[in-house]
Amino acid sequence: MQVKYDTILVLDFGGQYCHLIGRRIRENGVYSEIVPHDISPEEVKALNEKFNIKGLIFSGGPSSVYDANAPQLNPRILEVNLPILGLCYGHQLLAQLTNGKVKPAICKEYGIAQVTVDKPVGVLEGLSKIEKVWMSHGDTVCSLPPDFEVLAHTDNCPVAAFRHKQKPIYGLQWHPEVIHTEKGARMLHNFIFEVCKCEANWKVEDIIEKMIKEIKTDVGSAKAIIGLSGGIDSSVATALAAQALGDQLTAVFVDHGFMREGEPEAIRATFEKYPINFVVANAQERFMNKLIGVSDPEKKRKVIGEEFIRVFEEIAKKSGAQYLLQGTIYPDRIESGIRKNSDVIKSHHNVAGLPTIISFKKIVEPLRDLYKDEVRKVATMLNLPKELVNRQPFPGPGLAVRIIGELTSEKVSVAKKADAVVREEIEKNHLEEKLWQYFAVLTDTKATGVKGDSRAYGYVVAVRAAESREAMTANFAQIPYPILEKISTRITNEVPQVTRVVYDITHKPPATIEWE
Ligand code: XMP
Repeated sequence: MQVKYDTILVLDFGGQYCHLIGRRIRENGVYSEIVPHDISPEEVKALNEKFNIKGLIFSGGPSSVYDANAPQLNPRILEVNLPILGLCYGHQLLAQLTNGKVKPAICKEYGIAQVTVDKPVGVLEGLSKIEKVWMSHGDTVCSLPPDFEVLAHTDNCPVAAFRHKQKPIYGLQWHPEVIHTEKGARMLHNFIFEVCKCEANWKVEDIIEKMIKEIKTDVGSAKAIIGLSGGIDSSVATALAAQALGDQLTAVFVDHGFMREGEPEAIRATFEKYPINFVVANAQERFMNKLIGVSDPEKKRKVIGEEFIRVFEEIAKKSGAQYLLQGTIYPDRIESGIRKNSDVIKSHHNVAGLPTIISFKKIVEPLRDLYKDEVRKVATMLNLPKELVNRQPFPGPGLAVRIIGELTSEKVSVAKKADAVVREEIEKNHLEEKLWQYFAVLTDTKATGVKGDSRAYGYVVAVRAAESREAMTANFAQIPYPILEKISTRITNEVPQVTRVVYDITHKPPATIEWE
């Protein structure tokens, strides 16, 4: 018999971190579904047939509760008698709907803030008097009706956390789902287990079966192709699709010419050994031709996204495939602005970079709700090789989005050489396990140098190394100076066109990990 999972529903008000809340809940062994912000009590009841709904979380969002088009809650949701936790926008909305007062904050807070915990109870159980939390808000709750009480405040925010005096209803102005909130995991744990009384009866293994079943249902007995870049996402998607479809599947590696040094050969060597239909499309020239004169990053991504599809379509025509599978994961979709209340940060080539007219019956994305580290867990469970599981993420458009401005063959060659040096030095010093990504960016700035007593005027290369858990936020890595020095010396010595190397010391946010 299938287990009825204890489940928390996350109502999506468009926040960048909404889906991350779901993921943090799953980390606790409790299932979570993201649902539209205006879900009705009847819809919640219908979901209860499949799951044991134990609580609701209202996510953050980019709107102010006063915006004309601000996403609204179905007010009857407050009557379903389930525990509720409002976060950021959700916190403000809860306060507004229960007759509290919300105003534009005198001083907006973005980033790490210090909060004073006035009452460490309920969701805040076990916290210290002063805690570090991650805030990102323009409005603030300034007063509450008598049946509510304040649990925490900051210098700029008199009601940073509240609860209802009788009912299990809580609001937090900050984001416990973001790792920069030091005790965020404890707060969510308190809500899930102490307030909602959930039982941890879900595990990541359960999704493998679900994904294989979904692929079979989508594709049926038809033929399909899958885009295989050699990265972890597409490799896991291929392993699942191979189990689901067997011989109906062909995996296609598109060599667009913007892969890292030695990579196309390595990918070919790895996948030719596997018992799958594997095809390499040599498409270097056609990608470069399409990108002539293109310097805008969003345009670049869209041109690349479209060209990938055109290559896939040609191969599908030959093999009779009607379906395209991709290893798209959740952060690709969220940054591409897939939800109606969220912003486009960048068009990931495999999501918003897709053309509108496509000759496939459907694009199937089995990993669409997973984060990279969840994909890694699935990869380990599928026994994929260690070097694949631990491979650093690499964007589908490759070095094309790490060369700022228009591409030329010379720039691609410079970027490849500089990137190879960064990788070699980081790996030689065994730093790779601590890093999410480490790479070189070829900027569109030139600078003066002096090489061998002569004036030189060449490219500026930026080195980027970031630590992250799932790419939604990241910190620049504090690489020891001697290693940075070695990287800089080697790049300027070994790549004659480069006169200067700089190190990127920006977190995400406000920067993104890739430069374009
Ligand atoms: P950003 O730069 O948005 O990147 O902080 C987050 C993660 O996504 C990767 N990335 C991409 N992956 N297609 C992909 O398959 C893309 O178009 C793309 N753009 C960024 C990036 O390398 C990082 O790990």
